[in-house]
Amino acid sequence: MASSNPPIAPADGKLGILIPGIGAVATTFIAGVELVRRGQAQPVGSLTQLATIRLGKRTEGKSPYIRDFVPLAKLDDLAFGGWDIYEDNAFEAASNARVLDQPQLEQVKDFLSGIKPMKAVFDQNYVKRIHGPNVKQAPNKRDLAEALVQDIHDFKAKNGCSRLAMIWCGSTEVYRKPAAVHQSVESFEKGLLENDSNIAPSQIYAYAAMKAGVPFANGAPNLTSDIPAILDLARDRELPLCGKDFKTGQTFMKTLLAPGLKSRMLGVSGWFSTNILGNRDGEVLEDPDSFKTKEETKLSVLEQILQPELYPDLYKNLYHAVRINYYPPRGDAKEGWDNIDIFGWLNYPMQIKIDFLCRDSILAAPIVLDLVLFMDLAHRAGMRGIQEWLSFYFKGPMTAPGLYPEHDIFIQLMKLKNRLRHLMGEELITHLGLEYYD
Ligand SMILES: NC(=O)c1ccc[n+]([C@@H]2O[C@H](COP(=O)([O-])OP(=O)(O)OC[C@H]3O[C@@H](n4cnc5c(N)ncnc54)[C@H](O)[C@@H]3O)[C@@H](O)[C@H]2O)c1
Repeated sequence: MASSNPPIAPADGKLGILIPGIGAVATTFIAGVELVRRGQAQPVGSLTQLATIRLGKRTEGKSPYIRDFVPLAKLDDLAFGGWDIYEDNAFEAASNARVLDQPQLEQVKDFLSGIKPMKAVFDQNYVKRIHGPNVKQAPNKRDLAEALVQDIHDFKAKNGCSRLAMIWCGSTEVYRKPAAVHQSVESFEKGLLENDSNIAPSQIYAYAAMKAGVPFANGAPNLTSDIPAILDLARDRELPLCGKDFKTGQTFMKTLLAPGLKSRMLGVSGWFSTNILGNRDGEVLEDPDSFKTKEETKLSVLEQILQPELYPDLYKNLYHAVRINYYPPRGDAKEGWDNIDIFGWLNYPMQIKIDFLCRDSILAAPIVLDLVLFMDLAHRAGMRGIQEWLSFYFKGPMTAPGLYPEHDIFIQLMKLKNRLRHLMGEELITHLGLEYYD
């Protein structure tokens, strides 16, 4: 079928991936891509590399790989750069993060050592527990934003990139609500000049991305791009945006299980989630203000999936608590426990226990890969503003003002695949096919 969409610009040339925060997630992602490119590993967990997409009727047997169906950038065409408050190159940062085994990291040491973080835009008031020397100094936040724009242009020229995408993998900033300064591009720019304390470092990166014409994704739960000033810039400059907070670990499990319980009209009276983790992310989250940011995205999930307003008898009294404890011996190998109190026929209670011995950054890395490839696709397809079809990857999906986010991972996956079908002028699949007796 012919597409009614405007043509998608081809993925010619190199795609530069710019990452604020060269920590555990970013280095696991970069090292993984390089290992895959060298044929030394499989991109497990990545839809863009492994998943297929059904087209047409079930009887037609057409299920190409997503990567063959939509014009994505090739892994060989990716270049990487970023910023961090520490001077460690990507090999040193990956070694410190201790996500990947050292012998495996040694295989790509040459490549990772060449990725040296640019000086960061950082503010101790937003991330309290870490201190590093690799930080830009300037009289005001507008100068800092301009310095980032210059970094972006320099990176693009130096690496011969035709396109760029930025993805925030920096630490979780303290909890902030939108303030007056965030409400328009004018007030935001005035705030930059006046060093308004309500403008977070991550917002300066998002602003610089918009100014430099680069799509922006937010992997942390920070407010960052979820403000009118950045949304307006994205619309005006025809740039895609998405966020926030990668859906890995415990919340991933929640969005698998909760829709299943609800689909069978089983009640939930309590859901207690606790985690121990010992990486730098865990250390930052020890600060109550950073934890509050995380807690918001983690808590919102169940409410939306279970819809207590529609099913008060089943979910109105749900007690939901989330805890995270920093426990250094575990490093990146987090453990997440869930105790779920459910009830069934005649209100008889039952319990479910989950003990997920999870590797956070191993789950996050393929998400980063898919997001940058899909954001680049969206950009070339002329899609601008919030990309809700990428909600699949986030704990707190950004939505257009006034809409509630969709958290059910199966609905999210259907949205994602239907968006790809729509982009390519294929029929959407609604699963309303003929039944046997029709
Ligand atoms: N690992 C996961 O599964 C997962 C899931 C969801 C969200 N996240 C979020 O992703 C982010 C990265 O996680 P991680 O495990 O890699 O953490 P990390 O602590 O290993 O890495 C974050 C890096 O960001 C740097 N940083 C902080 N502020 C910065 C700034 N203003 N500019 C540039 N660099 C800055 C830190 O120095 C650090 O090296 C965190 O916000 C985390 O909450 C991670």
